[in-house]
Amino acid sequence: MDDEKRKFVWGAATAAYQVEGAAFEGGKGLTIWDVFAHEKGRIYMDQNGDTACDSYHHVDEDVALMAELGITGYRFSIDWARVLPEGTGRVNEEGLAWYSHLVDALLEKGIEPFVTLYHWELPYALQMKGGWLNPGIADAFAGYAALIAERFSGRVKHYFTINEPQCVSVLGYVTGEHAPGLRMGRREFFQIHKNILLAHGLAVRALREHSRGPVKVGFAPCGAFYYPSSERPEDIEAARRATFHTDSTELKEAGWNVALFTDPIYFGRYPEETLRLFGDALPGISRDEWEIITEKLDFHGQNLYNGVEVRAGKDGRPERVRRYDGFPRTANGWPVTPEAMRWAIRFLSERYRLPIYITENGMSAHDEVSLDGRVHDPNRIDFMDRYLGELNKAVRDGADVAGYFVWSLMDNFEWTLGYSERFGIIYVDFPTGRRIPKDSFYHYQRIIRGGETQ
Ligand code: BGC
Repeated sequence: MDDEKRKFVWGAATAAYQVEGAAFEGGKGLTIWDVFAHEKGRIYMDQNGDTACDSYHHVDEDVALMAELGITGYRFSIDWARVLPEGTGRVNEEGLAWYSHLVDALLEKGIEPFVTLYHWELPYALQMKGGWLNPGIADAFAGYAALIAERFSGRVKHYFTINEPQCVSVLGYVTGEHAPGLRMGRREFFQIHKNILLAHGLAVRALREHSRGPVKVGFAPCGAFYYPSSERPEDIEAARRATFHTDSTELKEAGWNVALFTDPIYFGRYPEETLRLFGDALPGISRDEWEIITEKLDFHGQNLYNGVEVRAGKDGRPERVRRYDGFPRTANGWPVTPEAMRWAIRFLSERYRLPIYITENGMSAHDEVSLDGRVHDPNRIDFMDRYLGELNKAVRDGADVAGYFVWSLMDNFEWTLGYSERFGIIYVDFPTGRRIPKDSFYHYQRIIRGGETQ
């Protein structure tokens, strides 16, 4: 492994629509979220990301905060419509210049840019042509990737193609909870699944072909993770089984099974259960297409927030362990399950044999500015210590973990939940745009300075 990979990356993450604001400025085209968030009843209190954290106008202040924090990597997404307002064709130089400034400012502070090409900012013009259901999306995405690679060559060396394909497909096109808010069936879902896989693969190729010099590429899925209730081999096997296999025919559940997107990308085939349970709904994938889909990746990115505890049932199959009354939860009701970190990393490394970046991890809390003018978030500090402690165990178990990105650098627009959830280690006062580093910011700063996990 080269030196760069050996250096653990301490990072923080955001996404364009969640932080940038300036939704209708600087020549940016509309995205599906610009439209969706303005439809009545879609978002908590009918809020939207028009202004969000206004990072578009606070870019230098934000980079200065990152430098103070001491992170060595910043994961952010490029808004596709800010650089290609119609998704293809005409380039918006003003948009590219803004990202170029961000990248230069980061590099100047010694912060490595980790660019996500797609964190759900689909140009609305492409949605009008069918969006992710239209097979033409794969070429459009590859063209966008080529443009970014050309313009950022030599400066950006790490890319993630697509963030959480599960949310793109299931929440966007099956349950309709996310933009574009459509409700489709299994056939359409699997066509979208295929289009995402091809778009990813073509983008990997385009990034490598159009960058002068080497770039490292991966993607950043989410997924449902399971951890064992004990270290007994049968419980571990039950957790591993639940993580990569499901007999569910509900897209909401089957869609979140870790293998559904990752097995095709790394192994060039559908999971066996997908073939068995959804065979009639699968579009054909040719040999050439599988070659595109399995374009070799340099690392595995993983967004990870929580998991489900299981043990081996009488027949050895995974059995969920009921959570005790009063089990800890974050402000948005997600369970606090640090063990998921260790076991997810262990299972992913064993199966896919790549270095792993934890591309998102963090929690929403009921943060507020106290009378002393500071934001005290002891729950988040505890969360961070517990999850990093488990990450450290995974490293001791032998996994190659390349870095960790806190979700999120700052409070932001939490999709359908609007501004009701605060995930940041920097507090944002949305009416004024004022930033206040929370206690967890200083805690993370100390961890980074210490250079190792707990
Ligand atoms: C997404 C983020 C989101 C976070 C917390 C992930 O699903 O990638 O955009 O804010 O989780 O919900």
